[in-house]
Amino acid sequence: MVALETTVTGPAGTAPRAAGMAIDVRAVSHRFELHGAPLPVLDGVELRVEPGELVALLGPSGCGKSTLLRLIAGLEPPSSGRILADGRPIGGPDPSRVVVFQDPTLYPWRTVRDNVALGLEARGLLRSQGRRVEEALALVGLTGFAKAYPHQLSGGMAQRAALARALVNDPRLLVLDEPLGKLDSLTRLAMQSELVELWRSSGFTGLLVTHDIEEALFMATRVIVFSERPARIKADLPVDRPYPRHRGDPVLTELRHRILELLGLAETW
Ligand SMILES: Nc1ncnc2c1ncn2[C@@H]1O[C@H](COP(=O)(O)OP(=O)(O)OP(=O)(O)O)[C@@H](O)[C@H]1O
Ligand SMILES: [Mg+2]
Repeated sequence: MVALETTVTGPAGTAPRAAGMAIDVRAVSHRFELHGAPLPVLDGVELRVEPGELVALLGPSGCGKSTLLRLIAGLEPPSSGRILADGRPIGGPDPSRVVVFQDPTLYPWRTVRDNVALGLEARGLLRSQGRRVEEALALVGLTGFAKAYPHQLSGGMAQRAALARALVNDPRLLVLDEPLGKLDSLTRLAMQSELVELWRSSGFTGLLVTHDIEEALFMATRVIVFSERPARIKADLPVDRPYPRHRGDPVLTELRHRILELLGLAETW
């Protein structure tokens, strides 16, 4: 598979900083309580993500995608089933698994550099590994804005800062929950390319929730399509195309049609 090869050497032979993590979601079901009644949200989800893959999750709003990401991040345990990271049960959050949400949520009173430094600071690593902050800022193209405050950034730059804050931990799994959802379409296209480059050069495993089918097909090695809530996996579609991809690629167009059909939207195509 294309992505697996890229994680061995990265582009231009650069070595990956951290090897990607394998994720096994085994027979996971999850339910919440709403007004005293059970609300089933995930229904028997089975998913194996190989190290270094970039897997996109698509599905109707409210079907349970963010919930699945929260379980994988270790923010809560599933009602039933098991989730394994590199074969070991996930017991809680861990710096090797990082989530970036749609809203950047930077601390307004901290500079960009100090926001990015948070993870290292919390783990007492800032003194010994502080250079990683500069590296992460350089990776997302924010070197010149290290001393800026969040209100001095554009939306796209704030999202980059949030990404740098995740990357500074050198994650082995990067979980992205609609990270580009609030950006204008031009910034969004540029950031899709940048994220793919970051992923290819870093070697982490990526999970990306998006509502944008083109985005999923442009970026991911595989696209998982979920049903309405409670989410079940409706389709698991490999996107076996080399990078960098071309948005007009007929294979991607064909896959797009397939996905629209699965989502019940084919007639609008
Ligand atoms: N803490 C909670 N307590 C009760 N219900 C919840 C909780 N978190 C989520 N839900 C419910 O779980 C369902 C799935 O929510 P989730 O956020 O996973 O959907 P999603 O697929 O990410 O949707 P979207 O695409 O709109 O972001 C929703 O019906 C939501 O109301
Ligand atoms: Mg969501």
